[in-house]
Amino acid sequence: MNLRRSFIKDLLRSEEADIEVNVKGWVRTKRGNKQIAFLAVNDGSTINNIQVVIDIANFNENQIKDITTGASLSATGTLVKSMGQGQSVEIQAKEIEVYGTANPETYPLQKKGHSLEFLREIAHLRFRTNIFGAVFRIRHAMAFAIHKYFNENNFYYLHTPIVTGSDAEGAGEMFRVSTLDVNNPPKNEQGEIDYTQDFFGKETNLTVSGQLEAELGATALSNVYTFGPTFRAENSNTPRHLAEFWMIEPEMAFYDIHDNMDLAEKLLKYVVKYALDNCIDDLNFLEKRLLDEEKMKSQNERSEMPLIEKLRFILKDDFVRLSYTEAIDVLKNSNPAKKGKFQFPVEWGIDLQSEHERYLVEKHYKKPVILIDYPKDIKAFYMKQNDDGKTVRAMDVLFPGIGEIIGGSQREEIYDKLSNRINEMGIPEKDMWWYLETRKFGTVPHSGFGLGFERLILFITGMSNIRDVIPFPRAPKNAEF
Ligand code: 4AD
Ligand code: MG
Repeated sequence: MNLRRSFIKDLLRSEEADIEVNVKGWVRTKRGNKQIAFLAVNDGSTINNIQVVIDIANFNENQIKDITTGASLSATGTLVKSMGQGQSVEIQAKEIEVYGTANPETYPLQKKGHSLEFLREIAHLRFRTNIFGAVFRIRHAMAFAIHKYFNENNFYYLHTPIVTGSDAEGAGEMFRVSTLDVNNPPKNEQGEIDYTQDFFGKETNLTVSGQLEAELGATALSNVYTFGPTFRAENSNTPRHLAEFWMIEPEMAFYDIHDNMDLAEKLLKYVVKYALDNCIDDLNFLEKRLLDEEKMKSQNERSEMPLIEKLRFILKDDFVRLSYTEAIDVLKNSNPAKKGKFQFPVEWGIDLQSEHERYLVEKHYKKPVILIDYPKDIKAFYMKQNDDGKTVRAMDVLFPGIGEIIGGSQREEIYDKLSNRINEMGIPEKDMWWYLETRKFGTVPHSGFGLGFERLILFITGMSNIRDVIPFPRAPKNAEF
């Protein structure tokens, strides 16, 4: 029999019965007795397994022995309506071919309920668990939804470079790219490393953001976006930071900060709705997992809403919009500030910490919040300067459980102001000539933002550690796999 392989997702939805089918996948569990075996087989197309029923008398003994949790196989047989509970159809097996066995003594995923920390150590196998299957199917769906949204709204996908000579965020948190011999680098007359002899003839790094190049594209194509990996050598060992993460950066000519906020809100609502419409089996599973986890927690540690309700909640209301200065007032008058409960004291001019952002979103407004007009000294050089001389047209979108999910701004489009700021901040102007030229020739008001893809996936899946929403996390002292 040489039947075309069906995906389990399609068979479970199938209205047909008593047809011959073939599935290929991995055994999740095997139970039964001497006469009959029931396999739960999964092929990654859905969180749900299909049951394969084996009448042991029809198979040879060695083959049955090889079919254990973790083994990969091809099963051919008749698709029939299932008598058992919890599944609509099952396969009565006629032929089984085992591709790869998985020794029960050594296969790490024998039982259910491994900790996420343990699974991180076996990231090469964790795809085979229900949790990570769900997370990575959702991650795919969110990437697709983002491209779909932009494609439907007159944006072009622009591929900006990974290797760059400029520090877009000016934070100096870059990974060097070099082919020089680290043990014996060439030196110039001043005794400094001579990068003119390096591969690119200058110092280069992995990019922290595609924004500056996206701005160049936007000054002709109007609306562009990037969606690529970005790299930051910041030593933040937190559940919200990675050294390699993916960012979506739209950049729009003729947009002011208000248009920018509107786009951010529409995009976020669109992708959340897409998840609800297209990933409901996985979301249900993740919600149940979280509810089970909650039962182990004390009353005051529990989160307020089940996952799916939390996602629906985002769609319901407008995000709250206010200025940084107003937010500082709210924080100063808050209970935690009065009782000295914030770890970082609140003062105008501070960079808001996660605890402050989450207070605003989760306790005070109980909605996503967009903050604008931040002090210029805590923001990047390219942001449009306000007339007060103190603040810039920055915008951060803050989400429950996450804090900052988006950072962006209106850009400074006036040549002199931008050039002054670049000099003020000690950025070498000669490296930025191409960026400045867009302000010389046909400059336009424009805006953009960066959405942290993994932070979005954290929010959608309800996972709590960013290392669990990217296949192979890169973090300080950690580049395994
Ligand atoms: O606020 P950030 O640094 O903004 C920029 O890079 C701008 N160039 C974006 C733009 O205007 N085009 O980063 C944007 C977002 C953050 O809001 C956060 O969601 C995410 O990127 N992010 C990180 N995600 C994971 N790990 C890290 N280390 C991150 N740093 C930023
Ligand atoms: Mg930011």
